Amino acid sequence: MAGCCSSVCDFLLEYDTPRIVLIKNRKVGAINRVVQVIILAYVIGWVLVWEKGYQEFDSTISTVTSKVKGIAITNSTAFEERIWDATDYVIPSQQENAFFVMTNVILTVNQVQGRCPEMPSKRTRCKSDHDCAAGHHNAQSNGVLTGKCVRYSEKVKTCEIFAWCPVENDTVIPKPALLGAAENFTVLIKNSITFPKFNFSKRNILTNASTGYLKSCRFNRKSDPFCPIFRLGDMVQEAGEDFQRLAVEGGVMGILVAWNCNLDQSASKCVPKYTFRRLDNKNFGETVSPGYNFRFAKYFINMSGIETRTLFKAYGIRFEVEVFGHAGKFNIIPTMINIGSGLALLGMATILCDIIVLYFLKKSNYYKEKKYKFVDDYELGIESQDSYGAIQNSGNTP
Ligand SMILES: *[C@@H]1O[C@H](CO)[C@@H](O)[C@H](O)[C@H]1NC(C)=O
Ligand SMILES: *[C@@H]1O[C@H](CO)[C@@H](O)[C@H](O)[C@H]1NC(C)=O
Ligand SMILES: *[C@@H]1O[C@H](CO)[C@@H](O)[C@H](O)[C@H]1NC(C)=O
Ligand SMILES: *[C@@H]1O[C@H](CO)[C@@H](O)[C@H](O)[C@H]1NC(C)=O
Ligand SMILES: *[C@@H]1O[C@H](CO)[C@@H](O)[C@H](O)[C@H]1NC(C)=O
Repeated sequence: MAGCCSSVCDFLLEYDTPRIVLIKNRKVGAINRVVQVIILAYVIGWVLVWEKGYQEFDSTISTVTSKVKGIAITNSTAFEERIWDATDYVIPSQQENAFFVMTNVILTVNQVQGRCPEMPSKRTRCKSDHDCAAGHHNAQSNGVLTGKCVRYSEKVKTCEIFAWCPVENDTVIPKPALLGAAENFTVLIKNSITFPKFNFSKRNILTNASTGYLKSCRFNRKSDPFCPIFRLGDMVQEAGEDFQRLAVEGGVMGILVAWNCNLDQSASKCVPKYTFRRLDNKNFGETVSPGYNFRFAKYFINMSGIETRTLFKAYGIRFEVEVFGHAGKFNIIPTMINIGSGLALLGMATILCDIIVLYFLKKSNYYKEKKYKFVDDYELGIESQDSYGAIQNSGNTP
């Protein structure tokens, strides 16, 4: 029977049990203690205290509403005297987690549907009616060609189109921005957050704020960091931008609200932190189509009963409010998990010391001999009792 047992068979039919070897060596003992202290410091200092391994965490769900206030006056050749209030320059009046403030505009007043010369360009200039194919149009044109070549100005002739006339001339953007006064506008941002796991809710209007305080306060990072009313100019400036320059062609700004709360402490310490940054590409030289603009129109019926519109090409700043929240609170389960994995890490000290003892010390062969013990059952069975010593001598091979 024994003959047919291969080494695989030997392996399957044996049992090993650990045996404790106590080595009285100061060097190894010291290394062992130092490694244990380092691991304990890591587990207690870093995992449990610094990374708050004793807490469970949750992130926030939140909602944001905003209200812009301020008034601008324009008195230029384009507009004459005109007053602009929030209803005029906040477009649309409500948005989710964002608001748009118009800072510059190109107005084309009293457009009606009719026939008029197209804006001069390489494509639209003509010498005779032959150059203008009736019915032709493309994505760049303002209307459909009628087939005539007409005078745009004394020197220039362009194809006539059927369109909203007169066509918009947006070749020159007003500079400085017509509504540069938006720098002084203010916005009230109301933000409510909830950490659902902890049944904890809070607003960015802190409980100690009175109505009078809310009427007069302005956000200021140093003197009033919890006031929810922000001056647009201050936000753009904190983002490292120049408001008047941004106002000309528009852009996108981010208002980041961070709630990092330790709910083991009092709820009044859970407060928002605001930061501002520009989100679109600010390198104007690098972008072909810089800034942010869009068109919209206001329609009415004029005195003669004809449908008329005022076309706005609006440039402005879109402010996007983004809320991030993270809260932690003591919980026994993550605490036990972190302590348990810390204790398991202590095994590292044994492994490290074993490597040193068995391979790097001068007496390592002696320690090996003491640590590993071979017990060969078959040998014992065949030979007499005095072979016990012989087995022990051959037992130093690991
Ligand atoms: C607008 O400008 C005109 C002339 O430049 C001036 O007479 C008028 O008072 C100005 N209006 C306002 C509201 O400043
Ligand atoms: C467009 O308007 C600008 C200034 O308002 C003017 O200088 C320019 O000549 C106009 N362009 C055309 C094609 O009429
Ligand atoms: C903003 O307000 C200040 C003082 O109230 C004023 O000096 C400044 O000219 C205003 N800025 C703009 C762009 O209107
Ligand atoms: C959440 O807290 C409120 C009071 O803060 C309490 O009335 C409500 O019962 C709590 N809900 C749960 C599910 O604990
Ligand atoms: C409200 O409480 C915060 C701290 O929680 C404090 O910094 C702030 O000054 C208080 N505001 C008022 C108006 O008392």
